[in-house]
Amino acid sequence: MRIAIYPGTFDPITNGHLDVITRALSLCDSLIVAIAERREKAPLFAPRERVQLIKNVLMREPRVEVEAFKGLVTDFAKAKKATFLIRGLRAISDFDYELQMALTNRKLAPEIETIFLMPAENYIFISSSLVKEIARLGGDVRELVPPAVEKLLLRRFHKNKAH
Ligand code: COA
Repeated sequence: MRIAIYPGTFDPITNGHLDVITRALSLCDSLIVAIAERREKAPLFAPRERVQLIKNVLMREPRVEVEAFKGLVTDFAKAKKATFLIRGLRAISDFDYELQMALTNRKLAPEIETIFLMPAENYIFISSSLVKEIARLGGDVRELVPPAVEKLLLRRFHKNKAH
């Protein structure tokens, strides 16, 4: 049983993250989307909301679980008996940070391997912060996020326009 963890802030989940999840599912038997609280990033959505949103978006995928975690991702992975960490690599600018994290995680847990997956080219430029900024300023995010996320963003930023 190959269990993989896909950790991140997911504030909120985007089509780019979903693309990585689909690719990861071809490599493992079960995938746990692990939501880090990351208060230092001042997230828009509470961890509970992020978990629920991803569960709604992925409800037709029985091989995916969604959980919030605190503490080290390697400890969470060990507790879940996961052997892989999945991370998306969008551009060369992601590389330094990702290399540092992967090597630190390897030091903490040599038995856990980090696998990098490249999202489809049309999602290379997306980030959760950009999606939030576009939504806050009244732009259209329909091509960047699933409908449930668009709805929640509209509700959060433009209560009167939410459908
Ligand atoms: N599509 C769209 N956006 C993507 C993406 C993709 N495929 N891959 C990454 N991104 C974006 C995210 O939206 C996010 O954007 P934002 O900064 O605008 O919010 C950004 O890239 C960062 O990605 P994310 O995957 O959320 O990483 P993170 O840096 O917020 O999370 C953790 C890092 C949570 C994995 C890491 O801090 C961690 O493991 N924390 C637990 C504590 C720990 O173990 N620390 C030691 C680690 S060495």
